[in-house]
Amino acid sequence: MIRLTRPYFSDAEAAALSEVLASGMLIQGARVAAFEAAVRDHLYGLGAPATPGLHALAVSSGTTALELCLATTPRGVAAGDEVIVPAVTWPSPGNAVLLRNADAVLVDVDPVTWNLSPHEVARALTPRTRAIIAVDQFGVPAEVPALRALASDIDLIEDAACALGSTLHGAPCGALGDIGTYSFHPRKVITTGEGGMVLTHDAPRAERIAALRNHGQRSVGVFVGAGPNARLSELHAALGVLQMAKLDAMLARRRALAAAIRDAVALAWQGAPAGATVNHQTLGFVLPTPTAGPFAGDRRAARDALVAALRESGVEAGILSYALHRLPQFAALGVNNVRRFPVADAVVDGGVAVPLHPGMSDGDAEVVIAQLQRHAAWAVGERAVRP
Ligand SMILES: Cc1ncc(COP(=O)(O)O)c(C=O)c1O
Repeated sequence: MIRLTRPYFSDAEAAALSEVLASGMLIQGARVAAFEAAVRDHLYGLGAPATPGLHALAVSSGTTALELCLATTPRGVAAGDEVIVPAVTWPSPGNAVLLRNADAVLVDVDPVTWNLSPHEVARALTPRTRAIIAVDQFGVPAEVPALRALASDIDLIEDAACALGSTLHGAPCGALGDIGTYSFHPRKVITTGEGGMVLTHDAPRAERIAALRNHGQRSVGVFVGAGPNARLSELHAALGVLQMAKLDAMLARRRALAAAIRDAVALAWQGAPAGATVNHQTLGFVLPTPTAGPFAGDRRAARDALVAALRESGVEAGILSYALHRLPQFAALGVNNVRRFPVADAVVDGGVAVPLHPGMSDGDAEVVIAQLQRHAAWAVGERAVRP
């Protein structure tokens, strides 16, 4: 089976973990600092301004990173406040809002990029809006400058969980908004097993987050408030340092494989805004609603049948993402029941992800192409009989 994704490790990662164990230093030491420096340097290399300096704070997950952003939003996020979140994404950004007792206001996405539509966001802003969480969906940059132009006093949080290595107009994802986050979950461009990072040019905010992630401790024994234990361990960070060293090579391989597959099969692949470079963290397309054939009128049935057929043919395809308005915790908010999300519905019901990871061979890509060519026409009703 050609896997949807696989971490890209070598013996070096195993050796690095043994070294950490032998050192006896397991938390918040030199490896965490080195990992943070490696990410910072990478972002400077991609065009992040060096003045004021960029702060990179390693934390235990991408979800925790978002929670720390919301905990330090300049005007605060509390009960009665609203935070705008795309209607299609992994639930973390919306959950982080609910966990502050605020309302996650879901907004529909753009049909090409699947990112927050600035036009829809403009319609959803209210005097209660405190922040916008702009997700760089599957590594495609969100239109952060257009969102910024809508409101200057709203915290613009860029959820770049999937977007390490992507850029928009010469600036790196993760550093496009007031504050940004990465995830290092195994499905992401680099992985530390679990892990995340917060990025910001705002030094006082970075200082608050540095304390918050460490039980609210600014320096040893000096507590400035209540905070979780959101630290990343030295074991995770040791993996991160090695992963960063091969990031450019991994991105180049992802881009080459994505180009080969996308060019060979005519499907509605995810698009990108003008001025973007994309890391291709996930390679996905949206199936149209079939007008004929065995799944006529039922996009979801066509998608599920295609995913099953690809898997039976040795290609681990999967569904793309989740419609937050269909999850109970968001549907329960009145503010989301009066809204409609036609693009999010289409992306979620018709979305298919196909294998893409740097360990794939050219032969693997050819199999993915051949199986897509073989099965997609049947799923959309252009061929009546399954090949
Ligand atoms: C857009 C997005 N935000 C946040 C997260 C959460 O990251 P983590 O799994 O590291 O908590 C993920 C994925 O896992 C994600 O895809």
